Amino acid sequence: MIIAANFKANHTRESTAAYLEALNLFLDACPTSCDVRVYPSASSFLRADLYSHVKLGAQNFYPVINGAYTGETSSQHLDEFGIKNVLIGHSERRVILNETQDITAKKYAFAKERGWEIIYCIGEPKYIRDNGFEAVMEYLWSEFEGIDIDYEKFSVAYEPIWAIGTGVSAKIQDIAEVLDALKKRFATAPLLYGGSVKVENLSSILSIRSCSGVLIGNAALDAANFCKLIQTAQNVQK
Ligand code: PGA
Repeated sequence: MIIAANFKANHTRESTAAYLEALNLFLDACPTSCDVRVYPSASSFLRADLYSHVKLGAQNFYPVINGAYTGETSSQHLDEFGIKNVLIGHSERRVILNETQDITAKKYAFAKERGWEIIYCIGEPKYIRDNGFEAVMEYLWSEFEGIDIDYEKFSVAYEPIWAIGTGVSAKIQDIAEVLDALKKRFATAPLLYGGSVKVENLSSILSIRSCSGVLIGNAALDAANFCKLIQTAQNVQK
């Protein structure tokens, strides 16, 4: 099971270091079978090999080794920290930062070429959800345009846009329906859910047959709460 924390534009380098220290100590004392990942902001990257029980990842990068791309984070920047895990296609990048499917697919191809582990995010806006399941799936499939779904190091995170950061998670039945449909096409890729995951709803989300993990924002910002989430996940029998 993958339990991933997306810090977004939260935490400083100092607080990220304290968080990871606490998390790693917790995992040392309470071993878990979960694949625990943390995605800090680029200005808070720390050496990935400092934390034996946690995989450090990047929330974003620009698909170049280096060069004249003002303000961007290149693969050299990730390599310096030994980071081999990335998020691609998060709705906040697609919607707020106007990233197209074309640039999203370029990032995916670049990450794949480097053998990085990818959590590929997809999710529909509210007006699509209001049109029902068929409309949702049509929207979600369009977010796979140009994506090599046979890549063995990719997971999919289904994150309905209207459920992200709102405190209102999607209904279990709706998550299950989408993940089951994805499962038919991606037999081996782990399927995650994201969108207002918290201690109170984690067990029922992870109990969904096709769900192999979660991507968590708000509820993972506090290290002690993230540890609680990992412990809760550990107790879910699959
Ligand atoms: P949230 O964010 O848990 O705060 O809803 C999830 C995400 O955007 O990955």
